[in-house]
Amino acid sequence: MSDDPAARTAPAPPARPEPLVRLEGVSRRYLRGPTTVVALDAVDLEVQRGEMVALVGPSGCGKSTCLNLIAGIDRPDAGSARVLGVDLARASEGELVLLRRRKLGIVFQAFHLVPHLTVAENVALPLALDGKRDPARVAELVLRVGLAARAHHFPGELSGGEEQRTAVARALVHRPLLVVADEPTGNLDSASGEVVLRLLDELRAETGAALVVATHDARIAARASRVVRLRDGRVEADSCS
Ligand SMILES: Nc1ncnc2c1ncn2[C@@H]1O[C@H](COP(=O)(O)OP(=O)(O)OP(=O)(O)O)[C@@H](O)[C@H]1O
Ligand SMILES: [Mg+2]
Repeated sequence: MSDDPAARTAPAPPARPEPLVRLEGVSRRYLRGPTTVVALDAVDLEVQRGEMVALVGPSGCGKSTCLNLIAGIDRPDAGSARVLGVDLARASEGELVLLRRRKLGIVFQAFHLVPHLTVAENVALPLALDGKRDPARVAELVLRVGLAARAHHFPGELSGGEEQRTAVARALVHRPLLVVADEPTGNLDSASGEVVLRLLDELRAETGAALVVATHDARIAARASRVVRLRDGRVEADSCS
């Protein structure tokens, strides 16, 4: 303890809240026979509550790899990754499952809808996996993504854009703290894309959730509070808009 009275009475500086996402020096390499693909190379990235971060850059620059690491679907080869207070390198598979199920909303580039479940059942899945039911919330989201007339259809009966909107509704149904979305408007015309973007914005306003969105869509980048540009697996630029 200090003997200096000023040091004893001075209020502690306000603790900086821990970012929802903190990647430090994160790398991910893929070995393919004699060649090594460096998908991410020493990436640093922090995402705060309420932020919308657009991850942009040319095809193959590492956007999906980065989102998979943030979502705990993949693990880094080097560096540290903390998401919502969980150290992803040390977490057990069970902890990662709970993190994804309760606190994350994930929109995959390839949707990954469950083929034998209807639209409404797919949207309800994050709740069902957590032992919860909220048919009103499910119906509200199905309506808001414009799929009320398709609620009881199966994914194989949907257009690509309808599948994508189902995937977005599923990612938001449990009001996650962090949404990780890989090209969420990639298959949508501008009106449907606008619906999806509005939904993502509304969730952020409602819950203070953060969004990390990999995108080639200039509309998303224009709405983002920050644009992080990757090139060859490295952060080339990180700018507030
Ligand atoms: N499972 C894998 N095995 C080998 N290489 C991979 C694998 N997954 C990704 N890669 C490589 O890692 C690099 C980054 O891929 P990633 O999917 O992250 O790119 P991306 O920025 O999302 O591209 P896109 O805009 O086309 O979706 C690419 O060169 C890709 O070929
Ligand atoms: Mg991708």
